[in-house]
Amino acid sequence: HMAEKGGYKHFMLKEIFEQPRAVRDTLAGRLREEEGDVYLEDLQLSDEQLKGIDRVTIIACGTSWHAALVGKFLIEEHCRVPVEVDIASEFRYRNPVIDEKSLVMLISQSGETADTLAAMREARRRGAKCVAICNVVDSSIAREADGVVYTHAGPEIGVASTKAFVTQLIALYLFTIRLGRSRGMMTVDAGRALIAAVVRVPALMEEALKLNEQVEKVARNYLQARDFLYLGRGMNYPIALEGALKLKEISYIHAEGYPAGEMKHGPIALIDEHMPVVVLVPQGSNYEKVFSNMEEVIARGGRVIAVCSQGDSEVAAKAEVALEIPTEGEEVAPIILSIPMQLLAYHVAVLKGTDVDQPRNLAKSVTVE
Ligand code: G6P
Repeated sequence: HMAEKGGYKHFMLKEIFEQPRAVRDTLAGRLREEEGDVYLEDLQLSDEQLKGIDRVTIIACGTSWHAALVGKFLIEEHCRVPVEVDIASEFRYRNPVIDEKSLVMLISQSGETADTLAAMREARRRGAKCVAICNVVDSSIAREADGVVYTHAGPEIGVASTKAFVTQLIALYLFTIRLGRSRGMMTVDAGRALIAAVVRVPALMEEALKLNEQVEKVARNYLQARDFLYLGRGMNYPIALEGALKLKEISYIHAEGYPAGEMKHGPIALIDEHMPVVVLVPQGSNYEKVFSNMEEVIARGGRVIAVCSQGDSEVAAKAEVALEIPTEGEEVAPIILSIPMQLLAYHVAVLKGTDVDQPRNLAKSVTVE
């Protein structure tokens, strides 16, 4: 039904375009700009409890696991607490180092993923405090956790997660501010700066969504590819993983995400004139390094689709295609970079004629092991 898709051809596209609204809803009522802090109504952890933890473990599956990897960067950078990230089906079957001083965070759109739920139960059995980032209100994980940060993205119908993912990232920024402020690791000014960056996200996303038509044209030139490589560094490395996952899920083209600096230890052997390589190269602290990784790809004949900051003529001159996004500081780049990743996967899939909203063999929520 076109109507329930809001006039869009697929739920996925509707949900991609809903993201600025979704992010505004994630932020609504939570910002304490004056204090450089946030209010998370269902977190249920006092400053004392947040001060008492000595490690954070974030557990999730699929796209939510990619959000977790961004969370590690944010929390370690701003709160100086060691963060470990694990896949739920791995965590639940090893012997993790978790105790009463651990904070375990579960990230799950549905709040019903069997492995994530079981991992949480295991963590609680070992005495950890558990906080969930969930989209579905009153889902099993949200109910059983000690505290929850809801993403408020609204129902997500497309199997390939889009708005749920970016709002998970927003929730992680908010949680980082709360943890940093409560532990005294983040100054009022630093808190204010991070809030200001997050507040700009919806407008930056609106701008990035204007890439839609260009991305559709670009997609036409890469339909025949058998494999794609996605490269990024630092906080943007998980976005390379997520870009590759989106493409795999809905277009059935094999794709791999890699930390750009690790390319020389393997994937570089795959690069030839048939290999599209998506390079995430926004302005920021890793820019020069990624730029030279991009040159290494070009030198081997790889077809570079670069995602760079607006007006970056140096990248545009080298890459086969440059998708320019508004970055305005690197703090929220992972969120903005997610948009061209989603659009590229979407258009390749549509042009290939796959079932975008219901890709084969995948389920929206995996409630069995
Ligand atoms: C399934 C979905 C993915 C999702 C993953 C985790 O595999 O197809 O899109 O990322 O489950 O789901 P969750 O609801 O726990 O975030």
